[in-house]
Amino acid sequence: MKHLLTTTDIPIEEIREILDEAQAFSEGAAWQPEQQTFVANLFFEPSTRTKCSFEVAERRLGLQVIPFEVNASSVLKGETLYDTVKTLESIGVGAVVIRHSIDNYFMELTERVNLSILNAGDGCGHHPTQSLLDLLTIRQEFGHFIGLKVAIIGDIRHSRVARSNASVLKRLGAEVVFSGPEKWFDESLIDFGTYEDIDVATKTADVVMLLRVQHERHGEEESFSKENYHLLYGLTEEREQQMKPGSIIMHPAPVNRDVEIADTLVECERSRIFKQMENGVFVRMAVLKRALIKGGNEHVHHHQKWS
Ligand code: CP
Repeated sequence: MKHLLTTTDIPIEEIREILDEAQAFSEGAAWQPEQQTFVANLFFEPSTRTKCSFEVAERRLGLQVIPFEVNASSVLKGETLYDTVKTLESIGVGAVVIRHSIDNYFMELTERVNLSILNAGDGCGHHPTQSLLDLLTIRQEFGHFIGLKVAIIGDIRHSRVARSNASVLKRLGAEVVFSGPEKWFDESLIDFGTYEDIDVATKTADVVMLLRVQHERHGEEESFSKENYHLLYGLTEEREQQMKPGSIIMHPAPVNRDVEIADTLVECERSRIFKQMENGVFVRMAVLKRALIKGGNEHVHHHQKWS
């Protein structure tokens, strides 16, 4: 089956193909499977953007979306993730989109199921469609990745977005730097980029990519001052004024306004935050098409313009 699990396991040529496909969808291309195809979205963690944009993407592709709410399912009776997915497979579902709190939850599934799995986020592990939509947004802006400086700033240790983006950006030829509180640095990412002072990073980067402070993954409650964080590690109005001409601001969202980024900057001229969300639909259309064609659920494909 053709799964989408991480961006680190996809060759760069295939990443480019997905981005090209997503770009074509953004320009009005369309595709539908010839056979009736069922998909389900299994979100074991909260989501607004990923869940809704997958659903929009599925409907634009003419897929039959099976309503599935974890909290109204037999998961509440103790049914395992494997049995849940195997059940959906048995009743004819061709692809499942899964977000789960356990890192690498898909490892126990991939060799045992006969449908495509699209990872919508696993714990602190990976978020491949977020990474792909970030790449599409950067490519639309600059036309290339080589030599671009991307500063990933904030709660890096708990961020699947940082993990998904750092290695693929480096493979594409970008320079990656990290910044933010030292206690949230992640030594496992040191091969992909060095750590830099926030003022240097924001002044010199082409892309300032801010990360949400993920209190829900911090375990024991720790004292946290929003005002202090914003002053020390956030994109303040003063730091934005020092940014390079032509540089852009990104954030996977949801945004903690006035924490990672000043409220006034969320929709400023440099911000591509809502463009990222828009691109999320096109990237998800592209990865669904890839999964369904390469997963063997579809034999013929074609492009046509949306009417
Ligand atoms: N960026 C992102 O994954 O947002 P959601 O948690 O709302 O899906």
